[in-house]
Amino acid sequence: MALKEIITIPDPVLRENCTPIEDITPELKTLMQDMLETMYDAPGVGLAAPQINIPIRLIVMDAAQKEDEEKDPIIMINPVVLSSSDERSVYEEGCLSIPEYFAEIERPAIVKVGYRDENGDSQEKDCAGLLGTVVQHEIDHLNGVLFIDYLSKLRRDRVIKKFAKAKKATII
Ligand code: NI
Repeated sequence: MALKEIITIPDPVLRENCTPIEDITPELKTLMQDMLETMYDAPGVGLAAPQINIPIRLIVMDAAQKEDEEKDPIIMINPVVLSSSDERSVYEEGCLSIPEYFAEIERPAIVKVGYRDENGDSQEKDCAGLLGTVVQHEIDHLNGVLFIDYLSKLRRDRVIKKFAKAKKATII
């Protein structure tokens, strides 16, 4: 297993519409484990493949970490939101690709997600609470959407500008 480098905004890969996965190869299985390891190391509660510069439809999550010590990793291949609750919930979100920036984001409280698991079997899962928010945040990544896109244009532009400046500064 290996830790992968996490890319940050304004890297254009984070804005790509990611490619669906067709075959579950040994390389893909290794990548899933690498992503989990990278997520736990960060630490984060979710990670999408484009965040490690691989624009394919693969996400890993562990929303249990915050509540107790027991790990509960979830791997989803080609995940799609099948239905969303009318009820909404608000969480303060952050993103490993937008370090040290947090904002309250409102999303549907419960979503039903269809996906293939690490063995290629079709699954459906009702995701609520923290997992509900995490899975929507990660699926957004596969569509090139970031949580700052839910902010006002003024706030979003301010964040993007700050990171563009920081990136320039490190090149010098
Ligand atoms: Ni993120």
